[in-house]
Amino acid sequence: MKNLSLNVENALSFLPKGTLDKWAPAVAKAHASLEDGSCAGNDFLGWLHLPSSTPEALLSEIEQTAAVLRQNCDTVVVAGIGGSYLGARAVIEALSDSFDWLKTDRKNPAVLFAGNNIGEDYLYELCEYLKGRRFGVINISKSGTTTETALAFRLLKKQCEEQRGVETARKVIVAVTDARKGAARVMADKEGYKSFIIPDNVGGRFSVLTPVGLLPVACAGFDIRQLMAGAADMEKACALSVPMEENPACLYAAVRNALYNDGKKIEILVNFQPKLHYMNEWWKQLYGESEGKDGKGIFPAAVDFTTDLHSMGQWIQEGERTIFETVVSVETPAHEMYFPHDDENLDGLNFLEGKRVDEVNKMAELGTQLAHVDGGVPNLRISVPELNEYYLGQLIYFFELGCGISGNVLGVNAFNQPGVEAYKKNMFALLGKPGYEEETQKMQARLAK
Ligand code: PA5
Repeated sequence: MKNLSLNVENALSFLPKGTLDKWAPAVAKAHASLEDGSCAGNDFLGWLHLPSSTPEALLSEIEQTAAVLRQNCDTVVVAGIGGSYLGARAVIEALSDSFDWLKTDRKNPAVLFAGNNIGEDYLYELCEYLKGRRFGVINISKSGTTTETALAFRLLKKQCEEQRGVETARKVIVAVTDARKGAARVMADKEGYKSFIIPDNVGGRFSVLTPVGLLPVACAGFDIRQLMAGAADMEKACALSVPMEENPACLYAAVRNALYNDGKKIEILVNFQPKLHYMNEWWKQLYGESEGKDGKGIFPAAVDFTTDLHSMGQWIQEGERTIFETVVSVETPAHEMYFPHDDENLDGLNFLEGKRVDEVNKMAELGTQLAHVDGGVPNLRISVPELNEYYLGQLIYFFELGCGISGNVLGVNAFNQPGVEAYKKNMFALLGKPGYEEETQKMQARLAK
């Protein structure tokens, strides 16, 4: 089976000759420091060999738990935010029929997401939708104390118990959390929920290949073994022994750092398949939270083409030249569709007669690449043979390793997120959370000015 590939020609053409040779030592050092555990944040490197080291017994346990949920639920709500949510959603949306959620004859339970916002209307409408449904909940939180997730879980737990009875609720609520600490652990132990552990040394945004991502994906009816197999093959393709030019994760880290150093401060992740929208979202978190610190870091933005060519296309073509693009291109769609003949040809599209829709999409992709390169936007292209579990596994591991190496090259701790605490502290102070009395007083004085 061939691997995904990375083409950096249209990015290197923007950089001085010899750029790769210049960055090779820093990249090799950054990669080695992940492997030997000498980099900053080295207590969070558990994701590095998850694909090749996840025990068969854990995969079976996840599949068995998913089977229980699938048998007993028509809807599974995943409560989680950030790294405890985006990976599962990215994989499920990439693999699902776009209109599955509208179908009444579905084979798989609908997997819905909550706990990733505090929108009252969202929660109200979700709870209304769940009325009368045989729903279950997967409560995912590493800390077990995240407000958005805990709020949603409190509502969902109550409704599930009321609708389905406490005994059934205990069967269809599953926790994915820390082994020992946090409210989600305490509650899971007290209620006797089936639970899975998020390893101590795997941070949220690197946790999609743990039960955090695997359980929801299995519930949605997808093959988690193929996902792990793809990731494991990418782990091999990006091993320390593979030279940079042949090692996609190293090459990616080298080129994006070279571009950043050359004034390209924004990376735009691009897809030409709407199913990859949430893969963009997952990637934004992975790179944004890992690299954006110490006053440094490429700003990760994302667009869905061709949709956003009709909105952001103008900025990308002619705005400030501080951007580069990384395109995820799917070689072969799952379905075939051909343009039909029309006798009247009022839309003038008969020149496309007999062509596949994807041929038009691919020409849009090529035309966009040429136009953007002409407009001064360096272009990296990741070619993914097909959108299936195996290649999504490859893509996930490629991006994770590329991120770890990039962050080390940049000189930041890619595995912490001290900046996300600031809003929480203010929110708790404003809400008068016990323990925040001093902050509450200061906040009130500040706002009274
Ligand atoms: O990557 C991260 O660490 C964060 O995005 C967390 O995943 C997110 O804040 C949710 O945290 P928790 O799983 O503790 O609820």
